Amino acid sequence: MRKTTVITFFSHAGGVGKTSSCRDIGYELGQLGHRVLLIDLDPQANLTDWLGVDPEDVSTVTLFDALVHHGPFPTPHHVHGLDLIPSGLELAKIEALLTGMDLGGVDRLKKVLRPVLDAGTYDYVLIDTPPTLGKPVLISLFASHEVIIPVSSRNKGLTAVKTVHEMVRTYREYNPALNILSHLITQRGTTSHSKAAEEAAMAGLPNISGPIKTRPAIYDECQVVKQPVGVYAPKGEARAEVQAAVGQLLGYLAVTA
Ligand SMILES: Nc1ncnc2c1ncn2[C@@H]1O[C@H](COP(=O)(O)OP(=O)(O)O)[C@@H](O)[C@H]1O
Ligand SMILES: [Mg+2]
Repeated sequence: MRKTTVITFFSHAGGVGKTSSCRDIGYELGQLGHRVLLIDLDPQANLTDWLGVDPEDVSTVTLFDALVHHGPFPTPHHVHGLDLIPSGLELAKIEALLTGMDLGGVDRLKKVLRPVLDAGTYDYVLIDTPPTLGKPVLISLFASHEVIIPVSSRNKGLTAVKTVHEMVRTYREYNPALNILSHLITQRGTTSHSKAAEEAAMAGLPNISGPIKTRPAIYDECQVVKQPVGVYAPKGEARAEVQAAVGQLLGYLAVTA
């Protein structure tokens, strides 16, 4: 049994729920007593912002320094029972600085994480990635054991799955053990049309988790108050959906880890 499981939230489609589910699943894992580190690898820094941390606060060593200048492991922020390594706009530069698909740069995040993995500081490291197929995603998948693919029931999210699978197969050249832990249904619509589209797209896919239903008001408000769903509405159905998804994910992990 490995000490720490590193999980990337991956889809090149924007708006499918990567950041929301990384935040909320991370929070619930923390509430279950697991030691959780969230890493925001998206230069847009939504995860950082939504947890109430200022992305432009560069008072401590940044992830950028660690990745590009071989700096020490960044000091995490403690928020809602989680540790967070924030992002900032400077992370956008890693695309240019760690160029191409060369092995020279692909292992940078894995190297940054090695001390905390060796020390067994965390049970789970969850990595939120930008909606691209670029370098941040590559270094994240290289450093990860598992992938969670958020699949939005909105059309764009459903059509992205095929490409995501192709890319995971490609990235396995660098990290052969990379496992797709789950397809997490997010933003499930209420119409019969969206239900039929979702069923067609998900047919035959393994390890489905969720669904998390579409609830625009709650998700918007969580961003305003900078809290995970589980903090903002602890007794609501939205949280219960996330908790159920976490239970399914832990079940899949018990099989693969
Ligand atoms: N279950 C949901 N219901 C309604 N809105 C949601 C839900 N999950 C996420 N959202 C909203 O959809 C937008 C995109 O979600 P986000 O997590 O940022 O996706 P990604 O990180 O894949 O781009 C955000 O504004 C978020 O608040
Ligand atoms: Mg995002």
